[in-house]
This record gives sequence, C-alpha cells and structure tokens, in this order.
Amino acid sequence: IFNYIKKYLILGRNMKYYFNWSKNINQDELNIAIDVLKNNGLILVPTETVYGIAANACSDEACMKIFKAKSRAQDNPLIIHVSDKEMINFAAEKPTDVEQKLIDAFMPGPFTLILKKKNVICDVASCNMETIGVRMPSNKIIHELIKQSNIPIAAPSANISGKPSGTKISDIKQELSDKMDVIIDGGECKIGIESTVVKVNDDGIPEILRPGYITENDIKNVIGNVKLSDKLFKKVSKNEKVESPGMKYRHYAPSTECVLVKFDDEQVKKVNQIISNNKDVCVLGFEEDFDKININKEKFINMGSKNNLEEISHNLFSSLRKIDTMNVRLAIIEGVKKENLGLSIMNRLVRAASNNVM
Ligand code: TXA
Ligand code: MG
Repeated sequence: IFNYIKKYLILGRNMKYYFNWSKNINQDELNIAIDVLKNNGLILVPTETVYGIAANACSDEACMKIFKAKSRAQDNPLIIHVSDKEMINFAAEKPTDVEQKLIDAFMPGPFTLILKKKNVICDVASCNMETIGVRMPSNKIIHELIKQSNIPIAAPSANISGKPSGTKISDIKQELSDKMDVIIDGGECKIGIESTVVKVNDDGIPEILRPGYITENDIKNVIGNVKLSDKLFKKVSKNEKVESPGMKYRHYAPSTECVLVKFDDEQVKKVNQIISNNKDVCVLGFEEDFDKININKEKFINMGSKNNLEEISHNLFSSLRKIDTMNVRLAIIEGVKKENLGLSIMNRLVRAASNNVM
C-alpha cells in the first residue's frame, strides 16, 4: 500500500521534480528518483560526458518514452549504463579476452563497448538488435542511481534528435523539461563530448564506431591494434547498412547554417571576406585567433584555447547551442587537427556543419 501511495504521489498526478545535486547527492531525493525509475519514468541525469535521458533498460514501456521525448529514429539503439562488472554480466553475454581487457582498462569511464545482449534488456532499448552498447559511467550521480536502484539504465544524450547534446541544464531545460519526471542538476559535465563507442570485430581488432574522450592511441596502448570506422567523416544515407545506426543521422546541428574552416592564413583571408560581404555572420573560434578575424566581440563565440583540447571538448556543445541565439544567417566554425581528442571534436563539428567544410 505504501508503494502504491508513493506511486500515485509521484506519477499519478504527473508531479515533476527538480533536484540540485551540483554539490551533494541528497539521499531522500535519490529515493524519489529511484521510485520514478522503477515506475518507468524519465530522469534527466548528468554523466561525466553529457547529460542523459535515463529510463529502466529492462522496460519496453520506459524506453519507448525516451524515443518519444527525443523524437529519435526507431532503429537507433540506446546505450545501457551499468554500475559495475556484475551488472555487465547481467545485461550482456560473456566478453571475449580482448573485450575484457577494454573493460578493465576503460571502465568506469567515457567508454561504450558493444557486446552480445541478454534478454533482460528490453527490445525497445536495443531496437531488436542482438547487441547492446554497455557503458559504466564514472559520474557519481548516475552511478548511485544505477547502483541503489539495481537497474541498468538506458540513456541517450539529452537533446532532441539532431540537436547538439546537452552538457548543462540551462542549455536543455526549455527543450526537454516538460517531458521529464525528474530533472537532476549536477552542474556542467566534465568531459563534454559523448563516450567512445567501440566494437571488437571477429578478428579481435577493436573498431571505433564513434570517437570520444578515449582515443585511438589510448586503445592502441592496451590492445596493440585499433581501427577507425571509415564512416566517421562520411555522409551516410538513411538506407545504408552501418555498424552503428547513430552514424546515419543528422547530428549536433544548430538550425543556423554552418561552415567549418581551418584558420590558416589563406582561409582567414576568405573568412574575413565573407564577414565583410555579409553582416549576418558569427564566428565560433579559439581565443588566440580572435584578433585575426574582423568580427565584433558580440559575434564571436569563444570555444577556449586551441592548445587545450579538453577545454574545447568541455565547451563544445554549449558553444554550438549559442549559435542559434545569435540571430545570424551563417556561423563560421573554426576547426582543429584531427589528432587524438581533436579527431573526436572534429567528428562533432563536421556533423554540426552538415559536412559543409571549406
Ligand atoms: O556518453 C555517452 O555515451 C552518452 C551519455 C548519456 O552516456 N550517451 C550517448 O547516447 O551518447 P546516444 O544515444 O546519444 O548515442 C548512442 C550511440 C549511437 O550512435 C548508437 O547508434 C550507438 O551508440 N549504439 C548503441 N547501441 C549500439 C549497438 N548495439 N551497436 C552499434 N552501435 C550502437
Ligand atoms: Mg546523441
């Protein structure tokens, strides 16, 4: 009876909760969040990469709500978040030796490994695929939510499909809050771009399906061998068969038209020409290069220092979201070298610019 009353109080009246845990996790509030999770509600929750829209990964009903809230394509599976290695075994079949090495090296952390799915994970979450992406976040808030509820959590990035991912509540509140049962504010996400998604192929070589904070080199150092998917910088059509369905869809894109440019001397001349011919332009760039560009401070969005890839990654999605608040017709985005974390950053920027690269 007590549970029934609680359920009524929490979901029956469509009550919404906003919890601020930027400093500390509040255990009473956590108990409420766990109840919402058990009753198939949606929770906006921080992770170390980006915010996620969390639901019970064992419930078709709960996972269906995620797809609806995001307007997500029905063939794009959700990542399954676990609290520990025991829960990996609960959700997925036994890893191979290479997979186990990757788990030991990179979990918990910003790393997702594709494994064979067990039936406890619902078919809506996996889009009827035989595999799931498994991730063990290091962020304390989502970790406690999974651990104390003892429920694996399906969570895609917190954004309407196609838009930049959310890395702080103020960026995504408007877009998502009326679709959530609980919003947990954990401050800004540390890393800022999503986890590295890896699948180990039959030959034992790990393939990066989505680059992230864990780089090609990091994986090479553990396994000795690694491959980058050849689709990372390509436009893939909706009907094409791909390893990771997320590759097919428009992503990270502001509504404003964007063009991606490397700011070498030659290109800077062109950029300044565009700016002088056109008043409705903003620039998303690095602080060192502001002086090279003939643009007002108000029309310059600073992504940080070009020598600090971690800072750029941290600021990336929030900066992309600023573009649509600038009232311009074109955003010129400065690129970085496709090396290490720079490759992951460029993967997001190329997509933000819809492959419009100058
Ligand atoms: O950092 C992250 O991974 C964040 C936070 C919230 O944990 N989550 C995230 O989820 O980025 P989402 O749904 O935005 O991206 C999931 C990606 C998609 O590209 C999807 O296609 C791929 O993972 N994916 C999921 N399951 C897969 C599977 N079984 N096989 C191949 N790719 C899969
Ligand atoms: Mg996403």
